[in-house]
Amino acid sequence: MTISSSAIFTGFGSQLPEKRLTNDDLSKMVDTSDEWIVQRTGIRERRIACDGETTATLGTAAAQKALQSAGLAPKDIDLIICATITPEMVFPSTACFIGAALGMAGTAAFDLNAACSGFLYAMGAAAGFIKTGQCRNALVIGAETLSRITDYQDRSSCILFGDGAGAVVMQRGSDAGRGLIYSTLHADGNGADAMKCIPGSRFPISAQILADRQQYMQIKGREVYKFAVTKFEELIEEAMRNCQLSKDQVKLIIPHQVNRRIIDSAMEKLGLPPDRAFVNIDRYGNTSAASIPIAWDEAHQAGRLQKGDAVIFVAFGGGLTWASAVVKM
Ligand SMILES: CC(C)(COP(=O)(O)OP(=O)(O)OC[C@H]1O[C@@H](n2cnc3c(N)ncnc32)[C@H](O)[C@@H]1OP(=O)(O)O)[C@@H](O)C(=O)NCCC(=O)NCCS
Repeated sequence: MTISSSAIFTGFGSQLPEKRLTNDDLSKMVDTSDEWIVQRTGIRERRIACDGETTATLGTAAAQKALQSAGLAPKDIDLIICATITPEMVFPSTACFIGAALGMAGTAAFDLNAACSGFLYAMGAAAGFIKTGQCRNALVIGAETLSRITDYQDRSSCILFGDGAGAVVMQRGSDAGRGLIYSTLHADGNGADAMKCIPGSRFPISAQILADRQQYMQIKGREVYKFAVTKFEELIEEAMRNCQLSKDQVKLIIPHQVNRRIIDSAMEKLGLPPDRAFVNIDRYGNTSAASIPIAWDEAHQAGRLQKGDAVIFVAFGGGLTWASAVVKM
């Protein structure tokens, strides 16, 4: 739907763990090679949280940078949403831990799980709170420690994932033509088997679950690949049509960093130059809900976005979920 509110973006931040896990490192752990991984995914290395680094510590550091770049203090924030599939604990929410670490007491805070589409869902939710007047300034965070649910004995999935966090500050603005101008959110639970991590109410942690290594993510890569290519193109065409944006008017596409081949092939089919998509998957792999806000912060820092530029975001992931957004900077 087209949104007539002006939820504008005033701050950006990201945090990546220092520790790098390269393709050569992985080839000592499973039967794979740098050549195979680069050719099939575009990934060269990913960042891995060390002891003491968690989803909340990464999210807090990203949020602090976003606040600083917006020129706001924690006391100015009245809502925290953290998109994640690797929460600090089952409960309290990661957002509560981040709020406490930032010294906030009394600020609304909750987590949102829409897998790799989570950050775009969180942006849509925050825009709703801002539009109804329930909040003025929101911290929207995507934070993950996927290494904690990755099976490093499964070569088909362990090559894909990394850890990190990104955050934005969303504020009520007066210019209705700026900020989040379009958002679509979709889900189809019939596709749940394509990507999942099962411990929970249906499968409580047990000795059998651990013996079968079912505490880790399970991915049907081929299925996800086809789904992501199709959705990538559909979502971008739909967003350009609904926002009446020509190809030339799209300054940048910031996609969920799913696979370099998926991004390149979708851009080619759309007739858009490959460098119109922002890609950092070579350095970080797939960081699920964190991938878009990390890429957004890097694009912003690299000076690739100026006031008034139109940016399209697309994401797809577990659920199945898929989502898009258009932002006028
Ligand atoms: C995972 C992914 C990179 C696999 O690439 P692919 O081209 O689809 O490869 P396939 O799964 O068809 O496997 C091809 C062969 O490579 C092998 N292979 C799988 N992983 C490998 C690895 N890390 N190293 C070397 N060989 C590997 C397979 O065993 C298979 O061998 P076979 O033909 O002898 O059976 C790709 O499907 C993908 O990126 N999918 C989407 C990513 C995803 O699920 N993201 C998470 C949610 S957003």
